[in-house]
Amino acid sequence: MTSRTLLNIKDLNISVKHRGSRRPLVHDVNLEVHAAESVGLVGESGSGKSMTIKAAMRLLPKNASVEGAVEFEDRDVNRLGRRELAQYRARDVSLIHQDPRAHINPTRTIAQFITEGVVHTGAMSEDAALERACALMRDVGITDAEKRLAQFPHQLSGGLLQRVMIVTSMLTSPRLIFADEPTTALDVTVQSDVMAILLEQIRDHHVAMLFVTHDLDLAAAVTDRLAVMYAGTIVETGASSDICGQPLHPYTAALLRSRPSTTEVRRPIAIPGSPLSAYEVTSGCSFASRCSFAVDRCRTEVPHPRLVEGRTVACHRVEEIADQFQERAS
Ligand SMILES: Nc1ncnc2c1ncn2[C@@H]1O[C@H](COP(=O)(O)OP(=O)(O)OP(=O)(O)O)[C@@H](O)[C@H]1O
Ligand SMILES: [Mg+2]
Repeated sequence: MTSRTLLNIKDLNISVKHRGSRRPLVHDVNLEVHAAESVGLVGESGSGKSMTIKAAMRLLPKNASVEGAVEFEDRDVNRLGRRELAQYRARDVSLIHQDPRAHINPTRTIAQFITEGVVHTGAMSEDAALERACALMRDVGITDAEKRLAQFPHQLSGGLLQRVMIVTSMLTSPRLIFADEPTTALDVTVQSDVMAILLEQIRDHHVAMLFVTHDLDLAAAVTDRLAVMYAGTIVETGASSDICGQPLHPYTAALLRSRPSTTEVRRPIAIPGSPLSAYEVTSGCSFASRCSFAVDRCRTEVPHPRLVEGRTVACHRVEEIADQFQERAS
């Protein structure tokens, strides 16, 4: 793995207009993805994972305002002109959505879907795009590529359609793929096949990936590093194996305890309360209202991310409490 930084998200804040005031959705997010590295962005529903990815592609809704910087190879994505932005989205990065059917035009053929973006931006000619699409379709296990290209989305199963999405995302040999819950909407029987194909593609083509999921185990299994997000902010970042082996933030520890284990017999322990969105946090640590370790300071003072044991952790009490997670888990 090389340490060349591809994507650098710095102090990202996203808010939307709501009834005359601004509602924060993402708060002070810092995240780097290096060349050929896989990073997992993990957190409960509403924590701001998709918003962060949309900001990185400059695809946020019109009512959203953004502060901070999104840099791709030292270029500020928010300052790219129209043409450069189209090229950035067509050549440098690509996006795989959760539900392929929701992002494909049902009246266009698979060939039109795969090629129209790259042909429109001038990234590839139609013939070159179709030729590469056929080769990639074979690589991802789609037999009869020519026949599939002439079909319409409703003629393909969900798993096959997500393979088409992987082909589309690889077409221009991007350096970074944003995969936003790429298998969640699929039948469980095909989830692992599609995940394996995606991993094979990024490995074979040396592509970096920012992998969004609420499944901490899956993220840990397929990524080098993890960023754990809660209520619009990142609470812990570090090597995937370190985070899952010995969480330092109480939220990460609670997430790990809340999932069923395949290796030990124990009852999953639900995290008390409900997940919050950034705008629901009034003061102090965003996790304080659900944290069994919270003290007064946690409820009043925002914990800033700090370097602890080679990881970045946003918790006032990390040095005092991390050992107790291990005791509780055993
Ligand atoms: N277009 C929008 N306008 C206003 N608020 C929005 C919009 N899209 C999302 N939100 C809010 O922003 C917050 C973060 O949403 P986001 O979609 O990033 O969450 P997520 O972590 O991807 O969740 P999930 O796991 O459910 O996909 C949520 O509170 C959500 O309701
Ligand atoms: Mg999402």
